[in-house]
Amino acid sequence: METAQFRLAARPVGMTKESDFERTTETVRELNDGEVLVKTLYLSLDPAMRGWMNDAKSYIRPVQIGEVMRAGGLGVVVASKSAKFAVGDHVSGGLGVQTYWLGAADDRSAALYKIEPSLAPLPTWLNTLGMPGMTAYFGLLEVGQPRSGETVVVSGAAGAVGQTVGQVAKQLGCRVVGIAGGKDKCDMVVNELGFDACIDYKNGDVRAGLKEHCPNGVDVYFDNVGGDILDIVLTRINMKARIVICGAISQYNNTTPVKGPSNYLSLLVNRARMEGMVVFDYADRYPVAAAALGKWLKEGKIKSKEDVVRGIENFVPALNMLFEGKNFGKLILQVADQ
Ligand SMILES: NC(=O)c1ccc[n+]([C@@H]2O[C@H](COP(=O)([O-])OP(=O)(O)OC[C@H]3O[C@@H](n4cnc5c(N)ncnc54)[C@H](OP(=O)(O)O)[C@@H]3O)[C@@H](O)[C@H]2O)c1
Repeated sequence: METAQFRLAARPVGMTKESDFERTTETVRELNDGEVLVKTLYLSLDPAMRGWMNDAKSYIRPVQIGEVMRAGGLGVVVASKSAKFAVGDHVSGGLGVQTYWLGAADDRSAALYKIEPSLAPLPTWLNTLGMPGMTAYFGLLEVGQPRSGETVVVSGAAGAVGQTVGQVAKQLGCRVVGIAGGKDKCDMVVNELGFDACIDYKNGDVRAGLKEHCPNGVDVYFDNVGGDILDIVLTRINMKARIVICGAISQYNNTTPVKGPSNYLSLLVNRARMEGMVVFDYADRYPVAAAALGKWLKEGKIKSKEDVVRGIENFVPALNMLFEGKNFGKLILQVADQ
């Protein structure tokens, strides 16, 4: 049996290119005791993948040249010499950009765990019930600490993390205002996801939008994009506001230094705080978040929106959709049918 991989061949400068990867195929070897073979069904495409390609110190070691590109994914066990997983089990973990993953069932970097497909559609396990949902839940509740009646603003509102941040904040009784690119995304955020308002930063004035839609100021800003939008929101925060630094996608393909906020003294004036978060710090409590989010999903109180692109050969253009704003909801690459 053959398996196909995308291996990092060069460190991208600016946007990722096809030539930054080498495509390889290998014959799948025999399993050793304790190992499993997982057929990749879906891969999670995440903005962080762009950062993992850089040779820079971060919260996780960079992908090395020649290594299979790191990616979260979901697959089905097709061979097993481990008591941990049986053939037919669905598992999620660090499968990498490849058609099959082979390794020890308890491999720490892959961190495979079993998922239950009867509880939710498979893509949902990479979205609301997966890493983006965990990020939204813990970032909002633990770092943002919103209270009922407060105003929560979230950028990247139509994306994976943003959609759940806004919907959870609504469940907590907050006024929720999204920021997203384009009318169609803003319409989805308000009409389908139930946000109170959404500011189209590509076709409108964010400052004026915040003034109009956040008449009582901003108590929590969940920042997915950084750059100019963060700077503008800083001018509208309330006393003791909390800014969650989840990501800064506007800066990830920069060939110039990251643009930091020039309005940071607003933190001083308002006795506010800005705090970074990394989802992996909450790994031991993922089941708590999954149970809460799963309950809201089952009750129809929140939705999980995914944008599925087919074919591993489309990995590079699909990944770039994140930076071109082309994804509606969580971007997922479908590698194989069931
Ligand atoms: N800290 C953590 O543990 C953690 C975990 C997961 C994700 N994150 C971060 O969370 C953020 C969102 O990730 P996601 O997976 O949910 O992605 P996503 O929002 O589903 O997709 C990315 C979206 O970012 C927006 N975008 C792209 N370029 C932009 C720019 N120059 N300015 C403003 N917006 C831009 C686009 O939406 P528009 O069309 O609306 O522009 C795009 O659709 C990222 O920064 C990511 O790195 C952090």
